[in-house]
Amino acid sequence: MAKINFGGTTEEVVTRKEFPLKKAKTELQNEVIAVVGYGVQGPGQSLNLRDNGFNVIVGQRKNSKSWEKALTDGWIEGKTLFEIEKACQKGTIIQFLLSDAGQIQVWPKIIKYLTYGKTLYFSHGFGITFNEQTGIIPPKNIDVILVAPKGSGTSLRRLFVKGKGLNSSFAIHQDISGNARSKAIALGIGVGSGYLFETTFKKEVYSDLTGERGTLMGAIQGLFAAQYKILRKKGHSPSEAFNETVEEATQSLYPLVAENGMDWMYANCSTTAQRGALDWWKKFRDAVYPVFQELYDSVESGKETKITIEANQKEDYRINLEKELKEMRESELWKTGSEVRKLRP
Ligand SMILES: NC(=O)c1ccc[n+]([C@@H]2O[C@H](COP(=O)([O-])OP(=O)(O)OC[C@H]3O[C@@H](n4cnc5c(N)ncnc54)[C@H](OP(=O)(O)O)[C@@H]3O)[C@@H](O)[C@H]2O)c1
Repeated sequence: MAKINFGGTTEEVVTRKEFPLKKAKTELQNEVIAVVGYGVQGPGQSLNLRDNGFNVIVGQRKNSKSWEKALTDGWIEGKTLFEIEKACQKGTIIQFLLSDAGQIQVWPKIIKYLTYGKTLYFSHGFGITFNEQTGIIPPKNIDVILVAPKGSGTSLRRLFVKGKGLNSSFAIHQDISGNARSKAIALGIGVGSGYLFETTFKKEVYSDLTGERGTLMGAIQGLFAAQYKILRKKGHSPSEAFNETVEEATQSLYPLVAENGMDWMYANCSTTAQRGALDWWKKFRDAVYPVFQELYDSVESGKETKITIEANQKEDYRINLEKELKEMRESELWKTGSEVRKLRP
């Protein structure tokens, strides 16, 4: 394992160099990998495993768009594509990739197939960490592992096709075989990970829920909306407010930050922008820190998962979701965004 110094803290990272695909295939040569669920992660992980030469089948409920998608992607009914229970029966490694709410509903039906020596695999620490809410408590005589790609299943597949990879975290919850760690790493390499970072189920889910509610999605929309609002209130046109809030950020600055880091970005802008950004960033940090504290507490206490599970189980979840998304889509900010996007040269 490579030891890498991350800003003063040394962490061990698994790379493809020390755990090449060949080794991963040898590790899993006697396994039948059943990828259960063909939503977002399911296609990415199963297709990458298949193209990497692993013995993989897909489990998906019938009469659904996801079943049709699996057929279109080349999975063959009765040979490599089965109903969920059948796939769990046939698989020796069950990759449980239903939506987190779907996992709770399907769990009672599949538990009987989790027999001695099998492996249960998750891509999120949600079900296991919050098992008082999810009811997902695996039998004691199987391995339970996690590989969580740090990105969408769509990106996982796209990068794989380009010959690249996405980084993933991995964790072990139960190691009955004594080999759970190697299995997790082999599967991580098999699904197309570039580098693998070790974590625990708990840390994975806490950081993930914080991130998506924070800077990845929740906080960023909040920040955009607040800046847009003040600019509009002070008489700036919608296009000016949008360009200064979102367009310049996503089109010009964020890709440069991704490539070179924030200090480089600060060093390579006008001295006017530089001075202002240096003066203001700590004020923003201090203003939102209490909100992040509240958010992490809400994740840790299980409040966030409770809200998520309750919302997802409601019959009218999709209808309400569409209402909330419509409100965002039809806000002046994002209506302006839709027009600005058309004007990109
Ligand atoms: N989205 C990502 O890129 C991402 C990234 C990292 C980790 N993860 C984790 O990976 C896992 C899978 O996430 P995902 O986003 O791929 O899920 P998703 O797209 O929401 O999963 C949908 C899948 O679950 C099935 N499903 C939902 N409810 C069901 C039910 N009651 N009975 C049977 N099947 C049901 C769907 O079948 P139908 O189509 O028939 O409804 C479909 O196959 C989750 O643990 C998630 O947290 C996801």
